[in-house]
Amino acid sequence: MLQKANVTRIRAWLEKINTFNSTPGAGTTRVLFTKEELASRAYIKEEMNKLGLEVSEDAIGNLFGVLRGKNRKFAPVWTGSHIDTVLNAGMFDGMAGIVSGMEALRLIKESGIVFKRDLAVVVYTSEEPTRFGLSCLGSRAMAGELTLEDTRSIRDEEGNSLYEVLGTLGYDYKEFAAVKREKGDVYAAVELHIEQNLHLDKEGIPIGIVKGICAPTIYEVTINGCQSHAGGTSMGDRHDAFTAASELTLVLEKLARESKGTYVTGTVGKVNVLPNAVNVIPGEVHMSIDIRSIDVESKKMVLNKLFTEKERIESERGVIISLDLENDDIPLKCDENIIRILKNNCENLGITYMDLISGPYHDSLFVGRFAKTAMLFVPSKNGISHSKEEWTDFEDIALGTDVLAHTLLELANKDN
Ligand code: GLV
Ligand code: MN
Ligand code: MN
Repeated sequence: MLQKANVTRIRAWLEKINTFNSTPGAGTTRVLFTKEELASRAYIKEEMNKLGLEVSEDAIGNLFGVLRGKNRKFAPVWTGSHIDTVLNAGMFDGMAGIVSGMEALRLIKESGIVFKRDLAVVVYTSEEPTRFGLSCLGSRAMAGELTLEDTRSIRDEEGNSLYEVLGTLGYDYKEFAAVKREKGDVYAAVELHIEQNLHLDKEGIPIGIVKGICAPTIYEVTINGCQSHAGGTSMGDRHDAFTAASELTLVLEKLARESKGTYVTGTVGKVNVLPNAVNVIPGEVHMSIDIRSIDVESKKMVLNKLFTEKERIESERGVIISLDLENDDIPLKCDENIIRILKNNCENLGITYMDLISGPYHDSLFVGRFAKTAMLFVPSKNGISHSKEEWTDFEDIALGTDVLAHTLLELANKDN
């Protein structure tokens, strides 16, 4: 018998990790390999050690806490998430999946129940694209979609490449090839995450079982117009880069809203207007475009229409719009067998659940390339996330942890 997850312990871990924060008072900010992120890594290693887990890190900083099973010849079962955050975020996105994983392994260990496969909590390096502009660095590398060579070309705003930063921190390039996992290396993976949408909170249902994970297509956009005098240039003579950017943004919003796909989003989240002065017509704009869907076809349709509209805006406004593809990820369908196990465990524990799809991406998107993967969600108050208003009740994380622990234990005893 597994004991119930301990709410006090879950809360204490989350609150302690939340002290590693570079923007106290303005939400939580913990960017990859900053002193706050490194301190939270050190704390998690310490806590994993206290739980009796075997702790290790790979060459891109993915961190593992392993509880040994009875038979090492079987592939392990993973759970886990991320410890980095976007700017001015909350304390649950990512961290809920780490502490629930640690608590689940504690419950399994303390039950004394024998299980076959190793169980690991994995802290994936930088799920958020905050520092290097590319998401899911650790899990992407595991899936073989980020190579050591690639780490030389992705740079942070100071111009440091990921390659250089890893080297400075003492990660071993020679070990980089071992980051990549092949099919069969990991038996199954289950990630607990906060929902980051309204459904669970609105319905009063504590658990979401994720059917599929949307994947983003991201562009860095540059719009070149003509910088000129705000008073001296008549309205008909302008090539305003910002109004062109605004029109492109509204077009994107309309295309995503009107898409017939099951779930499609379009977002311009980052904008930099140059020269950014009251009395100057903007000559240049840099912005991001983030398009997501649960199916590749819907994304393609939005993108095709967006490219046609881009050309219209260019010719009508006399500007040049360049779209540079940053990443074009493929959505994931979660594993039906793990979904069934998750649902059975909810039913056995008397916990209500509903099916959901995930609009946000997760490390599971990439883990799903080489292992059977599924996710469960716990409610986000008012659906708010990537904000200091983000909130999930500790009791709900504990309920999710109960479902997770039973599911991990069952998977750890499966033959194939
Ligand atoms: C991850 O945080 C995402 O942007 O979906
Ligand atoms: Mn996030
Ligand atoms: Mn997350």
